[in-house]
Amino acid sequence: MKILITGGAGYIGSHVCNILLDSGFEVTVIDSLITGNKNLVPKKAELVVTDIDDEKIVEKVILKGKFDLVMHFAGLIRVDESVKEPQKYNEYNFEKAKKFLNICFKNKLNKVIFSSTASIYGDPQKEKVDENDLANPLNPYATSKLKLENFIIEKSKKTNINYVILRYFNVAGADEKLRSGLISKFSTHLIKRACEVVVGKRSKLVINGNDYDTADGTPVRDFIHVTDLADIHLISAKYLIHNGKSEIFNCGYGKGYSVKEIVESFNQILDKKISFEIGPRRDGDSKMIIADSQKFKKYFSWKPKFNDIKYIIKTAIDWEKKIK
Ligand SMILES: NC(=O)c1ccc[n+]([C@@H]2O[C@H](COP(=O)([O-])OP(=O)(O)OC[C@H]3O[C@@H](n4cnc5c(N)ncnc54)[C@H](O)[C@@H]3O)[C@@H](O)[C@H]2O)c1
Repeated sequence: MKILITGGAGYIGSHVCNILLDSGFEVTVIDSLITGNKNLVPKKAELVVTDIDDEKIVEKVILKGKFDLVMHFAGLIRVDESVKEPQKYNEYNFEKAKKFLNICFKNKLNKVIFSSTASIYGDPQKEKVDENDLANPLNPYATSKLKLENFIIEKSKKTNINYVILRYFNVAGADEKLRSGLISKFSTHLIKRACEVVVGKRSKLVINGNDYDTADGTPVRDFIHVTDLADIHLISAKYLIHNGKSEIFNCGYGKGYSVKEIVESFNQILDKKISFEIGPRRDGDSKMIIADSQKFKKYFSWKPKFNDIKYIIKTAIDWEKKIK
């Protein structure tokens, strides 16, 4: 079985490449390296360095590869940047992606797994959000991802396209064998930034807002280990390849941790306190977002293997030390 992966030089895409190769799939990556790193792409994968909207190259890759399925990870992911440059996010995450998927569909590559995000839910009023809850994006990043979801859903109503849309909650941690992890120097992810403090790349962690309406005033998030998320992709790929019908799944553990609780977990693991200061809220952040993650678990009788916040943090620290 052959899979085309966009964004395979990024954090999550490269991890999924490793898991697919481990399971005997052949993998081709398309990545422009705009935020990715070619060293993250496994040696056994073919890498084509190009933008996803380069019609000529993309079409050539698809015709040559005869892929069973495409996984679309490529995109820009910084909420803060999207608030400053909404047009850029619309262009990268929606317009370019739409063009890319149309090239796939035109060439009969019509099974697609799309990396969406929990941020399309905005600031939910319920403790846990499920896949049927209303979308209410609060920032241009989330809007751009929702637009692509809707594009895929509408296309599938008129043609024989089948999709699995995966709405990731907060992805964290690294591969146990440390083959891949989060490299970006500009990451705004909490666990990544705290790891940078641990290895001395950053003097202190800034907690963005402690006046939210939550138990300790800091935002609450649902963290999923990247290896469990990769396993969800593997299962979804097999499902679609065997003619499964289109579905949307939340990818989280259904448990929330506040920013302060994450800091406290770091303190316990390290047996010392990591320094932090309270900064202003960030535009576009919601106060709490936790997955109702029952649908995927029930559908595939799936159980996560790494739903332990200390394990998530420990693998993230190990990775940060490796790339120090
Ligand atoms: N990291 C998270 O917690 C998280 C949460 C929800 C959703 N997601 C989604 O998961 C996907 C992957 O995220 P990530 O954390 O691995 O990000 P990342 O920045 O590490 O990876 C994105 C990859 O896409 C490539 N890329 C971007 N635009 C491209 C283009 N036009 N053409 C070709 N390549 C391009 C980049 O070079 C990079 O390698 C994204 O679509 C993101 O929206 C991530």
